[in-house]
Amino acid sequence: MVSDQDVLTALQSVSGPDGKTPLPQSGALSGLLVKDGKVYLSIAIDPRQSAALEPMRAAAEAAVKKLAGVANALVSLTSEKEPPPPAKPVQRSIALPGVSNIIAVSSGKGGVGKSTTSVNLALALSALGWRVGILDADIYGPSVPRLLGLKGKPETEGRTLKPLTAHGLKAMSIGFLVDEEEAIIWRGAMVVQAIQQLMRDVAWGELDCLVVDMPPGTGDVQLSMAQNVPLAGAVIVSTPQDLALIDARRGVAMFKKVEVPVLGIVENMSYFLCPHCGGRTDIFAHGGARDAAAKFGVPFLGEVPLDMAIREQSDSGHPVVAGDLEGQYAKIYLAIAAQVKASLEKGHARAAPKITIE
Ligand SMILES: Nc1ncnc2c1ncn2[C@@H]1O[C@H](COP(=O)(O)OP(=O)(O)OP(=O)(O)O)[C@@H](O)[C@H]1O
Ligand SMILES: [Mg+2]
Repeated sequence: MVSDQDVLTALQSVSGPDGKTPLPQSGALSGLLVKDGKVYLSIAIDPRQSAALEPMRAAAEAAVKKLAGVANALVSLTSEKEPPPPAKPVQRSIALPGVSNIIAVSSGKGGVGKSTTSVNLALALSALGWRVGILDADIYGPSVPRLLGLKGKPETEGRTLKPLTAHGLKAMSIGFLVDEEEAIIWRGAMVVQAIQQLMRDVAWGELDCLVVDMPPGTGDVQLSMAQNVPLAGAVIVSTPQDLALIDARRGVAMFKKVEVPVLGIVENMSYFLCPHCGGRTDIFAHGGARDAAAKFGVPFLGEVPLDMAIREQSDSGHPVVAGDLEGQYAKIYLAIAAQVKASLEKGHARAAPKITIE
């Protein structure tokens, strides 16, 4: 059995970020986990030095791998401290060539149906004639592979990754590339860097819209993403309960702060349709999100009921919009998508005025 102490002893031979002090004494070790012969180690660094310190990371990984009883070692550089938010935001990284709109699907709270909404919205935009991609940026719980029934690793083509495709969508997920355990020890800035890299290094081709399924919440990672990804807008998903709506309000505030237009709120699990009697029950006092949207001054995009069929079809890799477009739920998502598409088109009309020379 390998102990933490064994790992620290092995790391004595590796110098820390200052190039002199051995890693264990350098104060930079920010996480160590030994599990079933696998060692996960994180070293906190200034994110600007991540390239310069790559040899240190590799040396630490090699030193740990040499230990008897270690099956695998994974050392990652993390940044404990988030970069300070720029005083004036909107210093965005360059847009993705070929991609007209990047939109985020976000929720203040986990488990409200963000991924379900992302996938069905993407499919609905595609059904409306757009070329659409979906990027699963939920590093802590990637679910797009399951929702689209995709398995396997993307192929590489030189330096770029080829997206997988399902139901006419181009899809990329952090879940195709890294183990869940690996991503979990990444910290804020590393996550944002990984997602940005994922966005840039994928051969998306020409897209009218790239839908990004964001990690839940409004913490540093989300804020930093909202600041650093050139977003054309954000869709907020909420359930109707008060608690979820308080979190949704935080989401709206976050995007407004960084000047990303909020395209609207979707109320998910809005009401329950009984599959037996067809009766409707407003489990969570439906309508909360519509009121909240009015209060926040953002559009209300629609209500999606709580229905077993939505969950079952999602879990089997055939989201409702991938099936019959005349179905009752497909129609709801199509209506949501039509509004999103219209606001994005309007946004572009505003952003790029036609210049006429008289
Ligand atoms: N309208 C709905 N009716 C029935 N089940 C739903 C509905 N929306 C989502 N679900 C189910 O609820 C669960 C959570 O949904 P989903 O994974 O989309 O949420 P999420 O906000 O992305 O969660 P996380 O925060 O974990 O990423 C899933 O099992 C999904 O199938
Ligand atoms: Mg999700």
